[in-house]
Amino acid sequence: MDMQKVPSREGDHNLKDYEQVKQNFSWDKVKGNFSWHETGKVNAAYEAIDRHAEDPQKQNKTALLYTAPGREERLTFGELRNLSNRFANVLKKHDVNKGDRVFLFMPRSPEFYAAFFGILKVGAIAGPLFEAFMEQAVRDRLQDSEAKVLITTPDLLERVPQDDLPSLEKIVLVGEGEKSAPVYVDYEKEMEQASDAFSIEWVDLEDGMLLHYTSGSTGKPKGVYHVHNAMIQHYATAEWVLDLKQDDIYWCTADPGWVTGTSYGIFAPWLHGITNVIRGGRFSPEDWYGTIEKHEVSVWYTAPTALRMLVSAGADVANKFALSSLRHILSVGEPLNPEVVTWGLKAFDLRIHDTWWMTETGAILIANIPSEEIRPGSMGKPVPGIEAAIIDNEGNEVPAKQMGNLAIKEGWPSMMRAVWNNPSKFESYFINGWYVSGDSAYKDEDGYFWFQGRLDDVINTSGERVGPFEVESKLIEHEAIAEAGVIGKPHPERGEIIKAFITLNDGYKESEELLEDIRQFVKTGLSAHAAPREIEVKDAIPKTRSGKIMRRLLKSWELGLPTGDTSTLEE
Ligand code: PRX
Repeated sequence: MDMQKVPSREGDHNLKDYEQVKQNFSWDKVKGNFSWHETGKVNAAYEAIDRHAEDPQKQNKTALLYTAPGREERLTFGELRNLSNRFANVLKKHDVNKGDRVFLFMPRSPEFYAAFFGILKVGAIAGPLFEAFMEQAVRDRLQDSEAKVLITTPDLLERVPQDDLPSLEKIVLVGEGEKSAPVYVDYEKEMEQASDAFSIEWVDLEDGMLLHYTSGSTGKPKGVYHVHNAMIQHYATAEWVLDLKQDDIYWCTADPGWVTGTSYGIFAPWLHGITNVIRGGRFSPEDWYGTIEKHEVSVWYTAPTALRMLVSAGADVANKFALSSLRHILSVGEPLNPEVVTWGLKAFDLRIHDTWWMTETGAILIANIPSEEIRPGSMGKPVPGIEAAIIDNEGNEVPAKQMGNLAIKEGWPSMMRAVWNNPSKFESYFINGWYVSGDSAYKDEDGYFWFQGRLDDVINTSGERVGPFEVESKLIEHEAIAEAGVIGKPHPERGEIIKAFITLNDGYKESEELLEDIRQFVKTGLSAHAAPREIEVKDAIPKTRSGKIMRRLLKSWELGLPTGDTSTLEE
């Protein structure tokens, strides 16, 4: 544990005195930065966009700097206000009202962001989906949320099972294609006809804003419900942890289908009126370094998998680009390897700051901030306003250096307020006033937290949370498969990959073609990131007497570890 420590860097950091800010902290003080404290009524879209559009100093500042293969575009705060007003008018015309669920299933694009804020402006709840989702994944989420409107592209429409979605009244289609059916709304046509002016639906801080579906170890993905109040913490952590300043060019690489792409790809920068780079298209070291160079990115929030891929791409690739605009780098979503931190010091002459949080927590809770030393391998310390601890299964704190459940004292602004349609699931997160994360960790004597692993079977592949149950359910829909058990297998670049153990139905024999067919079946039915990279055929899948698949045992076998207690194993 006695790793090399990386001292803080000189600089005019926003959060200079961590201990002092932490001691006298109240979230109410942060609220004073917003306009609503006089009226009590809010809308996060107003705070993120319109407030700056009304400021003569800021209205012509670039809000969104969009770059993708074949398309580059800038929108000022004024333009983004007008476009989102137009879209709010389109939604109103189709009877979308406060509390309705409106889902977005499309690639990152300027249209996505205009639509996103349009949704919030009518007081509706936005549900962003990864464009990589296939039919089953789309169906599960739109059914559970009873979405009223979906915004998508003609290309993606074939993955939307319209017949199974009785609540879905309209589908807004963005971009070229056939749009003549009565349920379709032609985005371009209606945007052109809509007015630039819209009167925002003012809501309460506790009114709904976002639904992010995420995976657990059992059951279908759950709808994590966030309210406008979350913006307080997006704002504060953007200041302390992202260390954003007015002249920064900020780039968060996450897709808005993932909470990082909304909390830190939308709210954090724009609540501060900062220029936000949005990159479409896939990862490649050249394209990513090229984006930093071309747009002179200064603050960069990315993920360990991408960083590890940059490490393997080698110094030669990095050296081709001028990366000196960078002043602050952060990472989230998976454990950040100490070697990557060391590499960052060499490659960028900068520290890489790990941050920890979850879809459920809505914003960063534990982080390395610029004014504090970094202990490579540690996630850092709780941000002001957050009390974190390691607890045992009864909810009692355990001593320093002892492993246990990473837990957070209830009551921070960006906490999820519900699991959609599932109150008992929501309740199950809490014990003794603590929110229990499902991660195991320990705390050292100086209050730094060290991630150890997941306590449940949730898989983290390239930073994406995948529920084994969802993959198993899809696998057994394949005609050849009788039973399936799915685990995460450690992988040097991706953190974990998905490995499936299956048994075959009578009449089927293992072959390369069959395994490839199974892989494709999950890929096209669920999503590419959920498809097992490895499949192993077994005679039986280990189960408890009550019929639960013993994934832990599968994992021990895979890793050649002791199998532990198998007393509940079925004969
Ligand atoms: O296991 C932890 C891991 O990712 C989980 C949360 O996944 P998700 O909700 O998809 O992430 C949303 C945005 C962060 C956690 O329970 N995780 C997240 N950050 C870290 C991490 N594991 C190790 N180190 C981190 N910094």
